[in-house]
Amino acid sequence: MAGIIAPSILSADYTNLERDVKIVENAGAEYLHIDIMDGSFVPAISYGPNWVKQLRPETNMTLDVHMMVVHPENFIDQFADAGADIIGVHVEATPHIHRALQMIQNRGVKAEVVINPGTPVSAIQPVLDMVDQVLVMTVNPGFGGQKFLPSTLDKISQLNTYRNMNDLNFDIEVDGGINNETIRLAYEAGANVFVAGSYVYDKKDPAAKVAQLMKLTSG
Ligand code: DX5
Ligand code: ZN
Repeated sequence: MAGIIAPSILSADYTNLERDVKIVENAGAEYLHIDIMDGSFVPAISYGPNWVKQLRPETNMTLDVHMMVVHPENFIDQFADAGADIIGVHVEATPHIHRALQMIQNRGVKAEVVINPGTPVSAIQPVLDMVDQVLVMTVNPGFGGQKFLPSTLDKISQLNTYRNMNDLNFDIEVDGGINNETIRLAYEAGANVFVAGSYVYDKKDPAAKVAQLMKLTSG
């Protein structure tokens, strides 16, 4: 199964956002990763539902919304209304992860559960049969441009094994520090959706970077 590349617009040029979105879409990226940061769950603040709403008509890519927000339940409807295709909520951000995932599904949006590097797979085991996607953070969330944490690879393998043994079919996404080397490690461990921010956007030629990452996960 070929990997899905999800460029993170956190690293795009916001004054040329439309251009930066089109470049990765034309290069073959299927998802666009959108990082929502509230200044509380993570130190930084990024953007909110209105921003996603304005972006929606600009692209046909799957909008992959990663909520780094406390009390995510309070914002699920707003992101669903804005046109999100996938909404991810951190298990660390709410005592009611099951309810939050139900709320996402009730809106007809794909539901994703997210775990930080310090959170074990066992923390999300009870909801694995209800999610469309699991996001394994491969850095501590909050900023682009951090270094991939190899200790997270074991959790990807655990999820892959659990998925196969229990006949489940959720996707496994990785986010943080993904480049031309780390993407292979995550792919070999069983991930199939790959977020990449600074590697795609920070230097020259984002289209070539997307094409390269697609090739590295296509067999
Ligand atoms: C980090 C965000 C990531 C970020 C990844 O908190 O969740 O999506 O954009 O950036 P890179 O690929 O530069 O590590
Ligand atoms: Zn993210």
